[in-house]
Amino acid sequence: MDNEEPNALERFIEKTRSLFAAEPDLEKRWTALTPVLAELLADPEVLEASKSWPDCVPRDGRAENLLFYEDPDYGFAINGLTKGNARQGGRARIHDHAHIYTLYGVLDGHERIERYDRLDDRSKPDYAEIRLASDKHVGPGEIDLVRPYEVHTETTVGERTVALIIRSQKGGSFNQGRYKPETNEYYESLGPRQTPVEMLPL
Ligand SMILES: [Fe+2]
Repeated sequence: MDNEEPNALERFIEKTRSLFAAEPDLEKRWTALTPVLAELLADPEVLEASKSWPDCVPRDGRAENLLFYEDPDYGFAINGLTKGNARQGGRARIHDHAHIYTLYGVLDGHERIERYDRLDDRSKPDYAEIRLASDKHVGPGEIDLVRPYEVHTETTVGERTVALIIRSQKGGSFNQGRYKPETNEYYESLGPRQTPVEMLPL
């Protein structure tokens, strides 16, 4: 790769590492990362490659993410999330991402992003009251910044969707909050399994 132009993924990693080195404030850092992700989402090579990424399959109560990269110094991770035909009509669980920051960007297809407000005082361990705060139809290039403990879900609308997800820490090794608003139940379980995949195969 020595004499070749960096590809979109390499450019994204380089810009993200520079930003993380320069900006210690998490809120500013993750806000500033949004246009960097927008560039990655706009890259035609990435979109083309995404058509061949394998479908993510939930199993044993766990979601699956494609793992494209984990940064050895800053710890951020680059994930893909593909929802193919098997996922249509299926409703993703309402959840949070625990302590991490996340940028969720739509690369291909359309879906709905629901955001919820937490209403109770968190004093009861198995209990949570939440209320729908927004329900947005999103498509390619749109990016949702999910801050620590923000409650949300994404719902398919009858087409294959692909998202690129940047997390401040690779998921899967720590519990995330789960919410059942019908019964006000709250529980925690491990985040998505991480399946290593080449984002831009040669
Ligand atoms: Fe999420």
